[in-house]
Amino acid sequence: MKKKLIAGNWKMNGSLAVNEVLLKAMLAGVGRPGCQVAVCVPAVYLAQCQALLAGSVIELGAQDVSSHESGAYTGEISPAMLKEFGLRYVIVGHSERRQYHGETDELVAAKAQRALSTGITPIVCVGETLAEREAGHTEDVVKRQLAAVIHTNGHCISEVVVAYEPVWAIGTGLSATAEQAQQVHAVLRAQLKAASPNADRIKLLYGGSMNAANAQSLLSQADIDGGLIGGASLKASDFLTIIAAAS
Ligand code: 13P
Repeated sequence: MKKKLIAGNWKMNGSLAVNEVLLKAMLAGVGRPGCQVAVCVPAVYLAQCQALLAGSVIELGAQDVSSHESGAYTGEISPAMLKEFGLRYVIVGHSERRQYHGETDELVAAKAQRALSTGITPIVCVGETLAEREAGHTEDVVKRQLAAVIHTNGHCISEVVVAYEPVWAIGTGLSATAEQAQQVHAVLRAQLKAASPNADRIKLLYGGSMNAANAQSLLSQADIDGGLIGGASLKASDFLTIIAAAS
């Protein structure tokens, strides 16, 4: 059976002091988990977190990456730069980047491609807004978002991680039910299967108010291979409980 992946997305939170306390508490409690574990941290803290996590079971990720290789792109960070910090994952196309930074499906697909070509696994986020769900467009939206990534990445699609994050569930405390999440995951799995003979090994994460209380039921669904955790990844005890639920 493939191992599940529990990835924390710290978003724009933390400080040198807070990160150290958080990671030390996680390392003290994580033991030898039966799942994969990662934290996606603000880029300025990669060096600090790399040092704190060295030799541990917790892998390192970033929250965004440039679609360009190098050059005159002020403020951007290339995959090669991230890779220097031992990075395993990078989140691309988070709804907060799509919403506040105007990232298009095509840009997200290009970022995923650039990460893959550097040996970093992109965690590609897809998800519908509340208005889109209420209009009955959930499947169309997530399929459109994923189609762009499949189109750009061809057979390499089996190397990505996909995270279904309904926008209405992010940071609201209102998680999708396990059934709602599984329903969309099944749609995404079918789409990936049509694109790749290796689709079964692609990890499909759920994200959106996953917490210590609801993780077990979400993670028990057939096509939910892990979680992308925001708020609950900032509290060591909650994150450790979610890791235990996935193990
Ligand atoms: P919350 O877990 O805080 O809802 O955030 C989810 C998320 O956006 C992870 O990328």
